[in-house]
Amino acid sequence: MKTENIIMEDLIKKAAKDIAGSNKVIALTGAGVSVESGIPPFRGEGGLWEKIDPMEFAHIDAFLRDPAKVWNILIREMKDIVDKARPNDAHKGLSKLEKLGILNVIITQNVDGLHQMAGNSDVIEFHGNFAWQKCLDCGKKIETFKISLNEIPPKCSCGGILRPDCVFFGEMIPPEHLMRSRKVSYECDIMLVIGTSALVQPAAYMPVIAKESGAIVIEINPESTPLTGSISNYLIRGNAGKIIKEIVAEVERLMQSIKNV
Ligand code: APR
Repeated sequence: MKTENIIMEDLIKKAAKDIAGSNKVIALTGAGVSVESGIPPFRGEGGLWEKIDPMEFAHIDAFLRDPAKVWNILIREMKDIVDKARPNDAHKGLSKLEKLGILNVIITQNVDGLHQMAGNSDVIEFHGNFAWQKCLDCGKKIETFKISLNEIPPKCSCGGILRPDCVFFGEMIPPEHLMRSRKVSYECDIMLVIGTSALVQPAAYMPVIAKESGAIVIEINPESTPLTGSISNYLIRGNAGKIIKEIVAEVERLMQSIKNV
């Protein structure tokens, strides 16, 4: 265990050194970055897809076939969890890196809005945002917290059924989000890949674009992923909250020491 801690501390110092000198750092985040905010991941231990079949409840065809069923089994539970969630040390650390002029964009696969709540101003929501509902008929958007769950599925004032403004399986990533994500992945010097199993395309291809354009790719995850050892320069094995908090503290120490020279 001691060796692992030494390795983690050394890699935290290495990551801080890598990013302290850059102003073109971006992050790709997944469900793991919000686990410490009480939002379960999709895969692995305690994952949502361990309990319910995503093809039966998170596919657009399943929603259109039986919106009430998807609202009752998936969306109601997600709404309860997301409404209570607040940013954790990982979200706060990424916001701090933006304020230090180091991190400029976050590409997130999450729909919980926690990066914006923590203060990051440029967040590409690859899979949309659960904070909004959209009417299937007139397209009007309504904030999720404003809708009542007394009637399932909830309806728009026009009578149309409301759906989360998220990307279901079977749907396209909004083209403007995909294009901009590719662009910033191509242009960055460093990509932090935080809390994603890197199994779902095209999000998982962004680190490949970054790598192929010469960027350093740093993974933060308790587990290795298909990117580890091939696309990622290194994996800092552990929980995002502790690791990012320590990276930011080390970056601030380095920046202070440069100022004092
Ligand atoms: N800190 C960092 N990483 C963590 C933590 C933590 N505290 N806890 C878990 N993880 C890691 C897991 O090891 C795993 O690699 O987070 C990852 C979560 O993986 P998934 O649940 O597959 O989430 P994600 O990669 O975001 O899924 C991508 O799949 O189902 C779709 O639309 C959904 O956006 C989602 C996409």
